Amino acid sequence: MEVKSTCNCKEMSEEEKRKLLDEFIEDYKDKEGSLIQVLHIAQGIYGFLPMELQKYIAEQMNKPVSEVSGVVSFYSYFTTQPRGDYTIRVCLGTACYVRGGKKILDRLKDILGIDVGETTEDNKFTLEVMRCIGACGLAPAITINDVVYKQVNPDKLKDVLNQF
Ligand code: FES
Repeated sequence: MEVKSTCNCKEMSEEEKRKLLDEFIEDYKDKEGSLIQVLHIAQGIYGFLPMELQKYIAEQMNKPVSEVSGVVSFYSYFTTQPRGDYTIRVCLGTACYVRGGKKILDRLKDILGIDVGETTEDNKFTLEVMRCIGACGLAPAITINDVVYKQVNPDKLKDVLNQF
């Protein structure tokens, strides 16, 4: 199954992106605990959260930069590096690990020629690991963007990737 990103952020100019972010910051700024929502939105707009952007968000929300970067580094969802079009996450929760999650990860590293947290040179795939996603009965599982692949066979990974 082919998954196409519906995001058209790449077509937005820097100015448009900043304007959109500013509007959201304005909406959220005075709400308790809203930093995380703003960071989600910022990552949605920019694709990643480089330090320069974290500083800007901190400034606009009247928060110390350390608080913003603390949240960014705490949640694995947030990334400070650009991501590929497709993010592959390998589940390393107990059930998946026991049923070969690590083998899948190793195979993906070989096929893609990258390590965990890295993106292929053509910016197509980013490789990450994650904890249980609730598909333990059909372990091992991986996700590619938001699609869950269950009972993944390491020998069929190439075929799966070729669909993208
Ligand atoms: S351990 Fe992988 S889905 Fe639960």
